[in-house]
Amino acid sequence: MNAPDKIMTDAPKAIYLKNYTAPAYLIDTVDLHFDLFEDHARVTSRLAMICNHDRSQGAKPLVLHGEKVKLISVKLNDQLLPAAGYQVTNENLTVSDLPESFTLEVVTEIKPQENKALEGLYKSGGHFCTQCEAEGFRKITYFLDRPDVMAKYTTTIVADTKYPQLLSNGNLVDHGKLEGNRHWAKWEDPFKKPSYLFALVAGDLSFLEDTFVTCSGRSVTLRIYVEHHNLDKTEHAMHSLKAAMRWDEETFGLEYDLDIYMIVAVDDFNMGAMENKGLNLFNSKYVLAKPETATDADFDGIESVIGHEYFHNWTGNRVTCRDWFQLSLKEGLTVFRDQEFSADMSSRAVKRINDVRSLRTIQFPEDGGPMAHSVRPDSYIEIGNFYTSTIYNKGAEVIRMMHTLLGQEGFRKGMDLYFERHDGQAVTTDDFVKAMESANNRDLTQFRRWYTQAGTPEITTEGQYDQEKQVYTLTIKQTCPATPGQPHKEPFHLPIAMGLLDDQGNDVPLQLEGETQAAGTSRVLELCQAEQDYRFINVAQQPLPSLLRGFSAPVKLHSKTSHEALAFLLANDSDAFNRWEAGQRLAGEIILGFVAAYRNGKEMTLDDTFVQAVAKSLESNLDPALVAQLLTLPSELYLAELMTTVDVEGIHLAREFVRKTLAERLKGAFEKTYKTNSDSGAYRFESESVAKRSLKNLALSYLMTLNDTASRRLCMQQFETANNMTDSIAALITLANQDCAERVPALAAFYEKWRHDPLVLDKWFGLQAMSQLHGTLAEVQALTLHPAFEIKNPNKVYSLIGALTRSNPVRFHDASGDGYLFLADKVLQIDAFNPSVAARMLGALSRWRKFDEKRQILMKAQLQRILAQPGLSKDAYEVVSKSLA
Ligand code: TRP
Ligand code: ZN
Repeated sequence: MNAPDKIMTDAPKAIYLKNYTAPAYLIDTVDLHFDLFEDHARVTSRLAMICNHDRSQGAKPLVLHGEKVKLISVKLNDQLLPAAGYQVTNENLTVSDLPESFTLEVVTEIKPQENKALEGLYKSGGHFCTQCEAEGFRKITYFLDRPDVMAKYTTTIVADTKYPQLLSNGNLVDHGKLEGNRHWAKWEDPFKKPSYLFALVAGDLSFLEDTFVTCSGRSVTLRIYVEHHNLDKTEHAMHSLKAAMRWDEETFGLEYDLDIYMIVAVDDFNMGAMENKGLNLFNSKYVLAKPETATDADFDGIESVIGHEYFHNWTGNRVTCRDWFQLSLKEGLTVFRDQEFSADMSSRAVKRINDVRSLRTIQFPEDGGPMAHSVRPDSYIEIGNFYTSTIYNKGAEVIRMMHTLLGQEGFRKGMDLYFERHDGQAVTTDDFVKAMESANNRDLTQFRRWYTQAGTPEITTEGQYDQEKQVYTLTIKQTCPATPGQPHKEPFHLPIAMGLLDDQGNDVPLQLEGETQAAGTSRVLELCQAEQDYRFINVAQQPLPSLLRGFSAPVKLHSKTSHEALAFLLANDSDAFNRWEAGQRLAGEIILGFVAAYRNGKEMTLDDTFVQAVAKSLESNLDPALVAQLLTLPSELYLAELMTTVDVEGIHLAREFVRKTLAERLKGAFEKTYKTNSDSGAYRFESESVAKRSLKNLALSYLMTLNDTASRRLCMQQFETANNMTDSIAALITLANQDCAERVPALAAFYEKWRHDPLVLDKWFGLQAMSQLHGTLAEVQALTLHPAFEIKNPNKVYSLIGALTRSNPVRFHDASGDGYLFLADKVLQIDAFNPSVAARMLGALSRWRKFDEKRQILMKAQLQRILAQPGLSKDAYEVVSKSLA
C-alpha cells in the first residue's frame, strides 16, 4: 500500500461541537496509586462511578479513553473481569452491562522514560513529571478524559528514595518509608477537578518557601521547586506569585483556596506552564531568573506567566470548560487577567503596545490564513493545535471589549455573578456572556458573534466637518473577509474608543447630536451596523480624530490620514497608545512606499517630517520605555501582513534603509540618548531602570547600523562590562547582526561564559538564528549539530529553528527554498517523537499563499512532502492538510 492510499483510508477524523453529548457515566472519586521504577511505572486507578443516563432503554457501555498504556487488569466491584468482559482498542477500554453505581479498578503500565512527546507521565532532567492538558491523562491510565467529568482525587506515589520529593495536587495527608530504599507519599485534593488538572512530580529538588496570608487571614505555604543549583534564581518568581495573589484579591475579590501552592520548574516542557490544581508545572524559562542570566523581558515574562497560572485557579480550575471547544473560556479570560495584572505592575501603555504588537504579528496572520478559526471553534482534528493566538489573545481581546462596553464595575459584577452561578462547574463561553448580561442588564446577542465568526474585521472611517453648523460627522464602516468555512460574515458589535483633537492638540468635549451636553473628551462609540454615522455637535473647528484609542477592538483600521496629521497625533495625542500607533502608521507607510520604490529601481529618500517626528520623540520627556516603543519601527512580520503579496527582500531592505538613515541623520541625538540613559549602578528590576535600559539599548541598535569604529567600540564596551543579561545580550544581538571582526569572538566568549546554563544558551542560539546576515541559514543548520543543541528539548527547537522560521523572514524565505527544505526536514524528524512541537513549527509554512509564485511552489512542495510521510501524526496532518486545502 502506498503512502497516499494510507492517508486516504486512515485520514484522522474531525470532532464537532454540534455532536457534544453529556457523559454517560460520572466519576465521583479517583484513588490513584503510582509505583515508579526506572524502566516503567505501574498505575492502579480505583474509580467510584455512577450512571449519568436514562437506563430505561438499557445501560450504555462505559467507554474509557486510553492511549499507549498497557492494560494489566480490570476489576468491577473488586471482581477481576475476564478478558471477555471488556474490549480494548488503541484508544479505548469499553466495559458493558454496568450497574447504576460501581467501582472500577484498572491497572496499567506505562514507560515514562521513553516518553518524548512530553504528554502524560514523562521524565525531564531525571525527575518524573506530568502534563495532562488537554488529553494527556489518557496516556497514564484509562479514564473519562474529558473536562466535564470532575472528580475528587487521592494520589499515592511510591518511588525510590533517590526521588525525595513526591508531589501531587492538594494537601499531603501521609507519607512513609518502605523496604528496598523506597518511600511513599499520599496527597488528597479536596476540590473536584477534571483529569487535565492532575499532576505528579517525583524528583530530587530544592525549594524556596514563603507564606502568604490571604485576605481572610489564612496562611498559605508557597513553594518553588527547582534543581539544587538553580535555587538562587527563584526569588523573582516568588515575588511575582505573591503579587499575583494580592492582585486577584484586590481586583476581583478572589482568594486562594488550598493550604499550599507549589510550582515546579522543568526543563523539557512543550508550552509555557500548566495550572494543575495546587501544583503548577512550569517551563524553567518562566521561573528561573537572576540579573546575570535573565533579561528584563524574561523578568516580565515570568511575572506574567506566574500570574497567568495563578489566575487559572479561579478562571479554569474552580470554573472549568465543558468541552475543549470552550477553551477560550479559561484561556481568553485568564490572558485578559494576566495582561491587566502586568499593566498594574508597570506601564499600562507599554504593556498594551506589546500585546497589540503580538496580536498583529501572530494572531492577525493566523486569522487571515488557512488555519483561521473562531474564538469558539466548531471542529478540530487535534485539540493540541487549538492552543492558538486566536484562542488566547483574540479571546482576551473579546473579554477586554466586554470590559470596555460594561465598564470596570459592570465587568466586576459580571465576574461575581459568573462565580456565584458556576463555581465547581464545567461551563461554556456562552455561560460567561450570560453572566455578564444578567449582571448588567445588557443584551449581548450581537456581541456573541465574536465567539463564532473568525477573521479580522476591517474598519474604514471618514470625517466630514461642517464649519457653518459646527458639526463633525464621522462615518464608520465595517466588513470582515471570508475565512475557511465562513464565506459570509454578519456585522460585529464593536467598541470604538475615540477623541477629537483641536489644532493645539487638545481633546475637545464630545457631544453627539441628541445629547443635552458634552460627555467627556474620550468616549466609546458602539458600532453595530455595517455602516453608521456619528454626528458630533458644537465642534468649533475642523478636528483631527483619534480613533480606536487603546486598541479598543481587534480590527484593522483604515482611515485617510496625511503624514502631517500622523506626525501631529504622534506628538500630541492624549492617548499614549494612539501616539505610538500614529508613529507606527507613519513609519509603515514610509517603509511600504520604499518597498514599491525599490522594486521600480527608484531611489529612496527619507522625508523630513518623519526624521523630525523621530527627533522630537527622542527629545521628549515621556517615559523612556514609551519612547523606546515609539522609536521601534514596525516589524518585518507586521509589514508583510500589510501587503497583499509579501515582498520579503523589499521589506527588509526598506526597513533597514530607514533604520540606517535615521541613525545617520540623528547620530548625535542617539549618542546623547545612550549616555543619559546609561546607569552604572547595580541592576534593579524596577520600572524606571527597565525603561532606561530599553531606550539605551534601542539607541545602541540604531548606532550599530552604522557599523563604524565608534559604535562598535561602544558596543564592545557594553558587552564586556555589563553587569546584567539585558545589556550583555542587547550588545551581542547588534554584533550578531553586523559583519565585523568583533562578531565571532564575542559569540565565542559568550558561549564559553554560559555553556553550563541551558536557558542562556537558548538566547545564544536564538540571536544567531535571528541575524540578518546572509549566512544565517547555513549557520543555523550548523548549530543543529552543536553539542549544546538538543532536538528533543522544545526550548532548544523554538529558540533555534523557531527563531529562524518565525522571526527571521528574510533569511527563512530565502529565494532558494533552502529554508523551507530545512524546516520540513526538522518537522518530520520531530514529528516522530513530539507531534505537538512539530505541528507548532509547521505554522511557518501554512501561509504560503501570501508569497510570490516561486516561493509558493517551493513552500507547497514541502507541505506535500510532509503530507506524504507515512505515519504522520494527526497534529501535523491537520495543519498540513488545512494549509493545502
Ligand atoms: N493551560 C496552559 C496555560 O495556558 C497551557 C498548556 C500548558 C498546554 N502545557 C500544555 C496546552 C500542553 C496543551 C498542551 O497556561
Ligand atoms: Zn492558560
